[in-house]
Amino acid sequence: MNTQDAGPLLEIRRLTTRFQTQNGALNAADDVSLMVGKAETVGVVGESGCGKSVTSLSVLRLVPSPGKIEAGSILFDGEDLLSKTSRQMEGIRGKDISMIFQEPMTSLNPVYTVGKQVAEALLVHNPALGRKRARDQAIEMFGHVGISEPKSRFDTYPHQLSGGLRQRAMIAMALICRPKLLIADEPTTALDVTIEAQILRLMKKLQNETGTSILLISHNLSVIAETCDRVYVMYSGRIVEESDVFDLFDRTLHPYTSGLLASIPRKNSAIEPGKPLHSIPGGVPDMTRLPCGCKFAPRCEEVMEICCREEPTLADAGGGHCVRCWKFLGRKAVKV
Ligand SMILES: Nc1ncnc2c1ncn2[C@@H]1O[C@H](COP(=O)(O)OP(=O)(O)O)[C@@H](O)[C@H]1O
Ligand SMILES: [Mg+2]
Repeated sequence: MNTQDAGPLLEIRRLTTRFQTQNGALNAADDVSLMVGKAETVGVVGESGCGKSVTSLSVLRLVPSPGKIEAGSILFDGEDLLSKTSRQMEGIRGKDISMIFQEPMTSLNPVYTVGKQVAEALLVHNPALGRKRARDQAIEMFGHVGISEPKSRFDTYPHQLSGGLRQRAMIAMALICRPKLLIADEPTTALDVTIEAQILRLMKKLQNETGTSILLISHNLSVIAETCDRVYVMYSGRIVEESDVFDLFDRTLHPYTSGLLASIPRKNSAIEPGKPLHSIPGGVPDMTRLPCGCKFAPRCEEVMEICCREEPTLADAGGGHCVRCWKFLGRKAVKV
């Protein structure tokens, strides 16, 4: 692929990905636009079921059946991935764009040693390299991702490794071809907090060394806050707020984002012992039967009459900060 220096590495434009289910159609991604710059780390956050995984799987054209990309474009290095053939996509997956998942066993095959799998990932895209050099590079990569005794670990099977080491092996496999974009879908959700912090630090360190862009998907806003430059907040398949990470905390505009922020445990906050953390009332709506108007309105503590009638658009709040909320749009309307 030709690398264009100007412009973002990934630009999702107005993506809609739809599932026809027994209960009706649902848009897991609904008119989603999202950008990842070169060497940037971008987060997508939202509760379970809001469309984060489907959005990221759409980029790789791996949406599971019966899901279908219905509209939009996905520009990678200036070229639309939606117009590529299946063969071309195979050449891009694992080479230009890699993905890691919450559960390493999704990517790792239990039947082969981790070393063989990482070397194989390299050989698939570089057959001329030869087994010996692929093996050497895989061992070197194991060292890079903090797997101690990489030579002997090369010959172990996935089940012989701890969860944290398996995740490191999966990161090694994802990064061995030096992809331009790494998509990490809940990469640390299954790990305890100490290992989680180590893995996040590792991803940032490798990014500094290689300049890889990262799209980090998480339901946990504190993971995103620690790791990302910019954030997209998703709700019911839609982007409801978009901002650089500092501005999101300093100037939170969407009540849903405020709810996510309030549910983060903080070291120095006055949490009373025995008192539960704040949680957003109610649950995520049934995607096949979404309410009219703003999809968050039934759970919103600041709901107004218009919110239940009409869906707000995503509006620019200045400085690259956008929000889909009548509270903001309403204020703007009053000002005009
Ligand atoms: N294979 C599928 N068939 C039907 N609906 C699906 C399928 N996969 C995902 N969905 C629906 O798409 C929506 C978004 O799912 P997902 O992207 O997995 O959410 P998240 O990753 O944010 O938890 C959910 O409502 C989910 O039920
Ligand atoms: Mg998911």
